[in-house]
Amino acid sequence: MSARNSSDPILPGSTIGVLGGGQLGRMFAMAARRMGYRVHTLAPEHDTPTGQISDVEIVAPYDDLDAVRRFAQDVDVVTFEFENVSTAAATAAEAFAFVRPTGQALHVAQHRFREKTFLVKNQIPVAPFAPVRSDEELQKAVTSVGMPAVLKTAAFGYDGKGQATIKDETAANAAWDSMKRQDAVLEKFVNLDREVSVIGARGVRGDFSSFAPIENAHANHILDVSVCPAGLPEKLAKEAIDVTRHVMEALDYIGLLCIEFFVTRDGRLLVNELAPRPHNSGHLTFDACRTSQFEQQLRAICGLPLGSTEQLQPAAMANLLGDLWQGGEPNWAAALAFPSVKLHLYGKSEARPGRKMGHLTALAATRAEATELVVRARDALTRR
Ligand SMILES: Nc1ncnc2c1ncn2[C@@H]1O[C@H](COP(=O)(O)OP(=O)(O)O)[C@@H](O)[C@H]1O
Ligand SMILES: [Mg+2]
Repeated sequence: MSARNSSDPILPGSTIGVLGGGQLGRMFAMAARRMGYRVHTLAPEHDTPTGQISDVEIVAPYDDLDAVRRFAQDVDVVTFEFENVSTAAATAAEAFAFVRPTGQALHVAQHRFREKTFLVKNQIPVAPFAPVRSDEELQKAVTSVGMPAVLKTAAFGYDGKGQATIKDETAANAAWDSMKRQDAVLEKFVNLDREVSVIGARGVRGDFSSFAPIENAHANHILDVSVCPAGLPEKLAKEAIDVTRHVMEALDYIGLLCIEFFVTRDGRLLVNELAPRPHNSGHLTFDACRTSQFEQQLRAICGLPLGSTEQLQPAAMANLLGDLWQGGEPNWAAALAFPSVKLHLYGKSEARPGRKMGHLTALAATRAEATELVVRARDALTRR
């Protein structure tokens, strides 16, 4: 670690290290390079979405600790766009550079059982849950949590991968077998009114800022459309932001954190999960807010003042999954014919079904109009 004080700002011209190679790192790198920073990235693949925008792309597995050490030696601060980096890798990097958020925060957020246990310890409401690490625990969990429920692998799940909705103990057994009996969590199925997310940022002196809650609609467990403002009563919006601040303080967090919330039909707010990085739902901040979530991540990890999160206009974001390529190249001109729709593509060459290839953002006078517009623009992509 350099001799500098941890609260000294890391100024433009410095080098940021991004662990991970996906679109979150790509948009972060765009924000960082715009402000005159250099960006190095490390990921197991070559020509990644992040690597394409970085000054230096290192191709190495995250558990190649020598590679992680060499990577950290060349940068001033390390951050993440991918949360499943091991604690060992984060610790290896910490010997040479600031790591923000810390490996400790990552350790909590990357494992559903640890995460939920941490939340309960901090008096934050979550859906009823129980750990599943043996047949006995599975049986006990089915009784204590109640049916229907969702069985989720404790680690490495994303976009609904590694989860199954179950109705009884037989189904629970079969689902756990198909997860190869990895450590899992059984969680009560929540009757959802809606889902929202809050993206918070916390700086090196404990300064906090958040974006307004964003409302998220999923299709096949993958985020489909996000819209801001969310249709949330003022009291719940405030509560969601208070919870976000509380969680970040409890983790002594530096950087950007997104909390996914469930809003139950009886009007309660439950935390679903934490993402210790920018979040898909926050992509609309790129076009709709004074400061994007990516610039805010940069400011937070560099010890700079946090930017204004003020939203300029209601906005909606629609994901573009690989499925859209099934009938050939999407009709980009048709979507771009909507003058207030913005196209973002992540530079991925292979369009697999369910793979996040890009997104569209629409700005409009109301949230309903923005949503309608972004969905119409996405529909236009498959018009040939
Ligand atoms: N307990 C639950 N009750 C109802 N819906 C759920 C539950 N858990 C997950 N879901 C649905 O599946 C989506 C993905 O689940 P999540 O736990 O956030 O995993 P991932 O890591 O894949 O994002 C959620 O956003 C929600 O739409
Ligand atoms: Mg999720």
